[in-house]
This record gives sequence, structure tokens and C-alpha cells, in this order.
Amino acid sequence: MATNITYNIRRFDPEKDEAPRWQQFTLPVEPGMTVLDGLHWIRENQDATLAWRYSCRMGVCGSCAMLINGTPCMACNTQILHVTDRLLTVAPLPNFNVIKDLVPDLTPMFETHASIFPQIERTDVQEMENPTAEYIQSTEELERYLQFTYCMKCGCCIAACPGSATDREYLGPMPLTQAYRYNVDTRDDGEKKRNGVVSRAHGVFSCHYAGECSKVCPKGVDPARAIQLMKKELVLGYLRLKGAKKPAKLVGPPTGEAKPKIEAPAFTVEQ
Ligand code: SF4
Ligand code: SF4
Ligand code: FES
Repeated sequence: MATNITYNIRRFDPEKDEAPRWQQFTLPVEPGMTVLDGLHWIRENQDATLAWRYSCRMGVCGSCAMLINGTPCMACNTQILHVTDRLLTVAPLPNFNVIKDLVPDLTPMFETHASIFPQIERTDVQEMENPTAEYIQSTEELERYLQFTYCMKCGCCIAACPGSATDREYLGPMPLTQAYRYNVDTRDDGEKKRNGVVSRAHGVFSCHYAGECSKVCPKGVDPARAIQLMKKELVLGYLRLKGAKKPAKLVGPPTGEAKPKIEAPAFTVEQ
């Protein structure tokens, strides 16, 4: 049987409204319905002007992050009846400007992310342009950064971070985590220029280790851990106590029998 739930939604259109306002909608909720499903119901049945962002509907793309009952989380993988039996407050992610209603402007986050060189940087241009082999990593080397690659750039960590709330220039948990992710990748040569960005004012040392970022991360990335590990690496480097990074070995193509070719699955629908 459906339960009536009231959504209390923060509305704001900077092009028309002088200030944000709260608007209530009551809807019938069936078990299993997500906060995102509820927003669709409201738009289809009560107010077609309500704006939010989403894409995959399965906790992968990172676009439906919003503040649900005071916690930054994903609307598509939060079931309504798991968080309330009566009232649900929904607001845009804090620490970002609002484009409209529940749509935050994530541009500063993506610009900061771009500034930390979020890709494998290499100096062997010749090998990059005409590859002859593979860079081999051990399982231990992979484990040093694997967890941090699960980040889907949703912005929940920045919305929860007291450092980002009080200092809009703070690089923030997501970009700092990604800087650490590439710094410890043995295929990467970009640590020096990345550290030039993260060790400046408003960088890694502005994190006061509240840990809120890790608490809300829907992917278990643990940005607070990455940031503290990066602080440690920087301090050891400054004190000249850090050993040189062991670069990934370049290993030529395997000899012997070629691997069997994997056939694509047959079409399951008529062409
Ligand atoms: S670290 Fe987690 S919370 Fe932060 S952007 Fe990545 S997935 Fe989202
Ligand atoms: S640990 Fe650092 S980055 Fe994470 S919420 Fe606290 S201040 Fe922000
Ligand atoms: S719609 Fe993609 S994560 Fe929610």
C-alpha cells in the first residue's frame, strides 16, 4: 500500500526569484521508490517547472547528488522509505552556486579538478607516440590508488566539507584525492607539477581532517584518507626523507601463443 510522503523542496530561479523559497508536494510512495522517482512524479503530476539533474539512474554518473534530509547523497540510490515515513527535505548541494532549484553549478569543482593534472603525465614522449610495450604494475602498486579511482565526481564530499564551506578557494576533497591518486600511480611522472598546485595556500594543508567527506562519499572513496596520505608524502619530501618513486617497468609484448580472440555476443534483438 502507498504511503503519503511530503517533499519539502528548496526552489530558486536566480533569473526570477529574489530569494530561495520552500515548496511542499505530497505524493503516494510505494516501497522501492527512490527520491529521484519522487521528483519525476512531482514533475509529471504537480509542477513541470521543477529542475534537477540526473542521467544514469543507477548511482554511476554522479549527476543526481543533492541534500536529502540534510545529508549530501544520490537521489537515484536513496529509497524514500529508508529515510522517512512522513517528511523529506530536498535541497541543492551546499557550497555551490545554484543554477535552478536542485541543480548546483559544478563548474568550480571541474575547473579545480582540471588544475591538478588529473591524468597520467609522462615525459617519454617517443614511447607515448609510438608505443612498443606496456607499463606493468604489481597488485600492491595498483592497490595504492585503486580505491580513489571509484570517484564519480558527484560533489557530495565538497558539499559536506567544512573547509569548502568556509573557504571557497579551498581545492576541496575530490580534486585533492585525484591528485593523490595520480601521484602514487607508478606509471605517472607528474608528481612535481601536481604538488606545486596542491601545496599552495588553499591546498592540501587547508584540510583540517573533519572526515565529513569520507562519511558521505557514495562510492567509499575515502577522500580524507587520501588527503592525509598526501600531507604525509609532502612533509616527508620537504624533510628529504622520501625515497624516489619506483617507476612502472616497461615490458614488451608477450611472446608465444596469441590469446584467443573473444567473439562479440550474438545480437539478441532482430536487426
Ligand atoms: S570522492 Fe566520493 S563524494 Fe567526492 S566526488 Fe568522488 S564519489 Fe563523490
Ligand atoms: S577531511 Fe578535509 S577535505 Fe574532508 S571534510 Fe574534512 S576538511 Fe574537508
Ligand atoms: S542519476 Fe546517475 S548517479 Fe544518480
